[in-house]
Amino acid sequence: MSNSAPSGAAPLKLAVLISGSGTNLQAIIDAIARGELNAEIRVVISNRGGAYGLERARQAGIMTHAIEHRKFPTREDFDRAMLAVLQPLSIELVACAGFMRLFSPVMLDAYPGRVMNIHPSLLPAFPGIHAQRDALEHGVRVAGCTVFFVTPGVDDGPIIAQAAVPVLPGDDETRLSERILAEEHRIYPLAIRLFQQGRLAISGRKVLIRDYAGPELAAGSIINPRTG
Ligand code: GRF
Repeated sequence: MSNSAPSGAAPLKLAVLISGSGTNLQAIIDAIARGELNAEIRVVISNRGGAYGLERARQAGIMTHAIEHRKFPTREDFDRAMLAVLQPLSIELVACAGFMRLFSPVMLDAYPGRVMNIHPSLLPAFPGIHAQRDALEHGVRVAGCTVFFVTPGVDDGPIIAQAAVPVLPGDDETRLSERILAEEHRIYPLAIRLFQQGRLAISGRKVLIRDYAGPELAAGSIINPRTG
């Protein structure tokens, strides 16, 4: 059983890792600004220097580092370069947000149970880098996104939160991705808030949430396609 950060008034010391646009980073920045998330983003690291998410961080006054993974001969060396930035900052949670690199044990051993990621499918369905396209090609009626704790496997860690969206007639990869992304922006700040409140505990493959009454099912279940 691994537990999460100590709950309480102290803002969670957060690092966000990105590779691209950074819309999930922006959602976290905005949730903090609205007072919905008691956290402080102490650094944003990108493995690509041109990532627009770095600009989002700069506009929010957040320290940024571009650590180009191509400059390192091994994953371990790249992870060590990231740790050199993270460790002096007393980071309590590393949030991958559109970060497209796999970690070596060097990173995961440094932050056991403290690395989160978000993926645009209802894991364990459709892991990997073409989740939305794979879901469309498979003909699913319901797609969605997942926030989970990162483990050495690919998109395989204990699941913290998920959101489901319908697949609609005429959906293409862009439209479905946009529908999923809107839900990502809702559940990632939620997952980080639960961690900051000390309400998450990892028990084997599962994440236990203290004082969690279950999903709001007032609307009942989702049926897609809705008949009639
Ligand atoms: C998102 O769909 C995320 O789930 C995936 O990368 C996409 C872009 O994320 N990992 P962002 O806009 O860079 O946050």
